[in-house]
Parts: sequence; C-alpha cells; structure tokens
Amino acid sequence: MSENLVANISAVDAERRSIIKNQTPIVIWLTGLSGAGKSSIANALELALCNEGRHTYLLDGDNVRLGLCHDLGFSDKDRIENIRRISEVAKLFTDAGLIVITAFISPFVRDRALARDVIGKDKFVEVFVDTPLNECERRDPKGLYKKARQGLIKDFTGIDSAYEAPENPQIRICTLEDDLETAARRIIDFINKQPRT
Ligand code: ADX
Repeated sequence: MSENLVANISAVDAERRSIIKNQTPIVIWLTGLSGAGKSSIANALELALCNEGRHTYLLDGDNVRLGLCHDLGFSDKDRIENIRRISEVAKLFTDAGLIVITAFISPFVRDRALARDVIGKDKFVEVFVDTPLNECERRDPKGLYKKARQGLIKDFTGIDSAYEAPENPQIRICTLEDDLETAARRIIDFINKQPRT
C-alpha cells in the first residue's frame, strides 16, 4: 500500500520545535486496569507539568474512544488498533515538541512494545499504575465492573479479557501507597533525570 508514497521532509524539524519550547519531548505511557487511577494520575501530572511551564498533551482512553477511535470496541483486535493509533499520534506530538501523557489500559505486552518502537525507546517511559483488581473493583468509579460481573459488558479487562502487567516498567506506582501528588512528583523526578536527546 505504501509503495507509491514518498515522505515529505519538513523544513522545520523536531529538534527545532523542541528548542523553541525549551524542553525534551517525551511520552509518559500509563498502563493499568480500568479504575486503577491512570486518568487521575495523568491529570495531576499534567497540571504539575503545566504549573512548571511545560507544554503537554494528555491522551486519555475514554476521550480518544469518543473521537479518533470511536469505531473501535474492546475485542483484542480493536484494542491492538486502538493502541497502534495512539502510538502514532503520540509520536506526532513528540515531533511537535510536546510532553505527552497517555492513559490507556493498553493490556498487552506486545502492543506496549510496539508503542515503544513507534515512539522511540529514548522517548518512551512506561509507568505501571499498579492497583490490584479487587481494589479497582471496590472503587468501580464508572460502575463498569458491576455491569461486567452481571454479564452486561463482555471482554472486560480483568474479568473476561486479559491484562498483562509490565514486568520491568520504568516506574511503578502503587496507588494503595502513593497519593496523586506523590505519584506525579515521582514521574516528574524520573523524566528530569533523563538525558536530553
Ligand atoms: S484499551 O484496552 O484499548 O487500552 P482504553 O484505555 O482505550 O482500553 O479504554 C478503557 C476504558 O473504556 C475503560 O476505562 C472503561 O471506561 C471503558 N470500557 C468500556 N468497555 C470496556 C471493556 N470491555 N474493557 C475495558 N474497558 C472498557
């Protein structure tokens, strides 16, 4: 399909864009179960970065599924396509010079590895929002676990669809121990220590 396509080399490159923004673009990739706290941490993190004058963009599961990925459901095939599109968008946003935060269940190891490859391993930080399933189900902020248990939603992550936890995330946030501000600060401290690319 791509045999007749030739990439345009833009006159302004990623480096120039990031120099104007005075920051190193990076993707902070949050993964974890539904209800684990990804969106709450992502919001706290974006606010903290914004307060420090950084240029950010937050890609959040439900929001993206209401727009770009509104045609996708929750079969394995659709989740794979969801993560593929998000990886490509996150890559474009890093080319634009932004610090990107993504908050998607992204349940499969292989797809997170693909995201890392698309975005580039130097620009990809995997953050495991580690909340046990029974705690996510206890919180059930959207009432979806209850519906899944009643059989009203199928392919629900952790119930009848797999979640493959990262084995070696760069950051692991245990939400039973760390509050939102602590979680955000740990991530910012980590990215501040990354070498400038
Ligand atoms: S992913 O698996 O493709 O990464 P994504 O993060 O975009 O999932 O969307 C997950 C959100 O969709 C959940 O937070 C929840 O609000 C909602 N949702 C609806 N149906 C399901 C389902 N079957 N499994 C998981 N989440 C679901």
